[in-house]
Amino acid sequence: MSEPLPPIASLRAGATAAIAASDLRLKTGLAQETARRWHQRRLSLRSPLDPALPERPGRPEKPELVRPGHTEKRSLHTVPGRIAMLHALAHIELNAVDLALDIVARFASEPVPHSFFDGWMQVAFEEAKHFNLVCDRLRALGADYGDLPAHDGLWQAAHSTRNDLTARLAVVPLILEARGLDVTPSLQDKMRETGDLDSAEVLRIIYEDEKGHVAIGAKWFRFLCARERKDPAKTFQALVRANFRGALKAPFNDIARAEAGLTPSFYRALASISHA
Ligand SMILES: [Fe+2]
Ligand SMILES: [Fe+2]
Repeated sequence: MSEPLPPIASLRAGATAAIAASDLRLKTGLAQETARRWHQRRLSLRSPLDPALPERPGRPEKPELVRPGHTEKRSLHTVPGRIAMLHALAHIELNAVDLALDIVARFASEPVPHSFFDGWMQVAFEEAKHFNLVCDRLRALGADYGDLPAHDGLWQAAHSTRNDLTARLAVVPLILEARGLDVTPSLQDKMRETGDLDSAEVLRIIYEDEKGHVAIGAKWFRFLCARERKDPAKTFQALVRANFRGALKAPFNDIARAEAGLTPSFYRALASISHA
């Protein structure tokens, strides 16, 4: 069933090939194998023949991509409601795989320590794991990723910050992934109430891993600010205002955010002014 993976010439080449792959088993397989080899110090960061990054990540024919607001309602007390919620989550995780890999491939020439790439390949590995776990739950409920339409907005965040690593870290881990910390605990409780303990367990695993993703984002965001002698909270606010159009919605999971290094001084000011 699983075909052998193509050769991986470097970290950047492996990440780029995974982004380009439209077969999602191949994408997640390449992401995880590239991460494994990088962490085992079996790959160089770049090689001269690395392929160029594609304009957009590879995607299968389905799901159909629609504008936000055109996807199904999600009452968890019915199987179709749970399928809709898990399908939306699978789509978020799939985008997260490509977003983590894009940080690695796009910014492979940035003057940052190698441990920067260790962190983002750990994120890519775990996002691939999350996608596969959620897909397993969809299949157990008689569905699959691709059965329902999905939002076509997540890649936009990556696109608008493609030339600026500091802005990318502000928007992807510190806005989008931090949002996951706010909403996942109550979702996990609701899922447990429905009796679907296997799906609740998948949400628990995701939540635990996502704390680490926000922490990796905060650590490197602070690193880049310190290097340029910039105030991290003020820099964050300026970059979010310039690069992110959505509102920051309270309530925030202040404790989990702070444990990850994202303190209220970063995001409070944005929550009060950006609900227009
Ligand atoms: Fe995830
Ligand atoms: Fe994540």
